[in-house]
Amino acid sequence: MQTCIFKDYQSLSIKVVQEIAQLVITKPDAVICLPSGETPRLTCTLLVEKAHAEKIDFSRVTFFGLDEWIGIPPQNEGSGNYFFYSNVFAPLKIARAKIHLFDGMADDLSNECRKMDLAIAAAGGIDLMLVGIGMNGHIGFNEPGTSPNYYSHVIDLDKITTSVGQKYFKQATVLGKGITIGLKHLLESKRVLVIANGIKKANIIKKMMEEEISEMLPASIVRKHFNAALMIDEEAASLYGKY
Ligand code: PGA
Repeated sequence: MQTCIFKDYQSLSIKVVQEIAQLVITKPDAVICLPSGETPRLTCTLLVEKAHAEKIDFSRVTFFGLDEWIGIPPQNEGSGNYFFYSNVFAPLKIARAKIHLFDGMADDLSNECRKMDLAIAAAGGIDLMLVGIGMNGHIGFNEPGTSPNYYSHVIDLDKITTSVGQKYFKQATVLGKGITIGLKHLLESKRVLVIANGIKKANIIKKMMEEEISEMLPASIVRKHFNAALMIDEEAASLYGKY
C-alpha cells in the first residue's frame, strides 16, 4: 500500500482532488464512490471549485455514496444524503440517474443493499473509492468484526461510531444501525484512497498500518488491496512508523 504524507489537511485534500479530476478527465464515465464525514469535506469543496474553474465535465460520472444511517431522513443535516447533495451533487448539478445512495428510511433494507450491489455491477465496478477511517478503524460502516467478504449490508453500529457520530448532528440523535457498501466492493475497486487528518487519527493510523491484518480492524484490510493509497497529513502520521 502506498503511503503519502502531506504537510497539512489542505495539501492532502488538493492531492485527492487532483486524482479525482485526472480520473474524470481521462475517463469521463468513471464510477466514483464517495464518503461523507468531516475528512472529505474539504476535498468536496475543492473538487467543486476545480470542476467549475477548469470546466471539468462530471455529467457522465456515476456516483455511489459509501454509507448511511438507518432511520435518519435525507433532510437531516447529519445524514449522508444531505452531505452528498449539499457538498457535491447539487453544486456539480449531477443528474439523479447518475447518483446511487442508500435510503436509510426504506422499509426493505435488504432491497436497498441488493439495489446498490446491482447498480455497482451494472456500472462495471468502482474505478475510485475514497474512504475515511473511523476512530475504531471502521471503513464506511464496516465495523470491527465485519467480514471482508460482504458486499452491501446492514449493520449494528459500534458504540464508538454512535457516540463519535453525534458530531454530525445539531442535537443528540439516537443512532443504532447503518447501511454500507462492503469491504468486498472495496477490494474489487480499481483504486482506493484512504484519507485521514488531524492528531486524533494518529493512533488508529498506526494500528491500521502496523497491526496484523484483521477484520477486527477493518481499515487494515485495505492493505490487501492491489492499488490503494493512504493519504494523511503529518498529524495523522505522527505515531505511525515510530516506536
Ligand atoms: P470523519 O469520519 O471523516 O468524520 O472523521 C470518518 C469515518 O468515521 O469513517
